[in-house]
Amino acid sequence: MQLIISSSKESLAEEFSYQFQELTETQASVHVALSGGSTPKVVFDYLAAHVELEIDWSKVFFYWGDERCVAPIDSESNYKMTVDHLISKISIPKENIFRVQGENDPDAEAIRYGKVLDQSLPKANGIPQFDLVMLGMGDDGHTASIFPDSINLWDSAKNCEVATHPDSGQKRVTITGKVINNAKRVTFLVTGASKAEKVREIVKEEGNFRSYPAHLVNPASADLIWFLDEEAAKNLIS
Ligand code: 6PG
Repeated sequence: MQLIISSSKESLAEEFSYQFQELTETQASVHVALSGGSTPKVVFDYLAAHVELEIDWSKVFFYWGDERCVAPIDSESNYKMTVDHLISKISIPKENIFRVQGENDPDAEAIRYGKVLDQSLPKANGIPQFDLVMLGMGDDGHTASIFPDSINLWDSAKNCEVATHPDSGQKRVTITGKVINNAKRVTFLVTGASKAEKVREIVKEEGNFRSYPAHLVNPASADLIWFLDEEAAKNLIS
């Protein structure tokens, strides 16, 4: 595990974007699972604004690690957030975009999207393999849309599952642990003081870490990077 601690959200975005650009330069194609949440939004803004990075978007393929079961024009949609902050501002072929169809019946969509992953991604160990999975972590220790009260979804034999947000009851489609941990690289993007205690517990394997889905992220490739801002990292320094 590697920890990269930045002074602000913006410098975290810069740090991540340079690593992302490097991936696109060293690989013929880059299959990425995107995340919702506030930190990716800042990263998308950075990538969209910094054209001097000269990213060849034609070799980048976008998927979503989780999606809220809403229409693609809904303000809750992770797809919409990505369109607004990145996709509408770059030149990426629409064939490279594989969105979760949040407007569909959730169970049917989890099956359909699981097949999309099987058919479109390269495989390793018989499991679809992303080059990069971007993850956030919620204040409760959830990641993708696997929440502490349904942590068992992590071990599903399927590529995708339907999850229910514990407070709002909103349905989500999420990729599962076997897909996340089969990725070549996994990055957490976590900012803000509200995450500091969970970050400490998970990184140091202390306290209640076992009850947080985020602690199960442990790719077989061993390529796991936590991008943190100083606030999220503040309890690590002791
Ligand atoms: C979602 C996410 C979710 C998110 C975390 C962190 O669709 O809600 O993918 O897992 O990454 O809740 O979100 P913040 O970065 O906004 O704290």
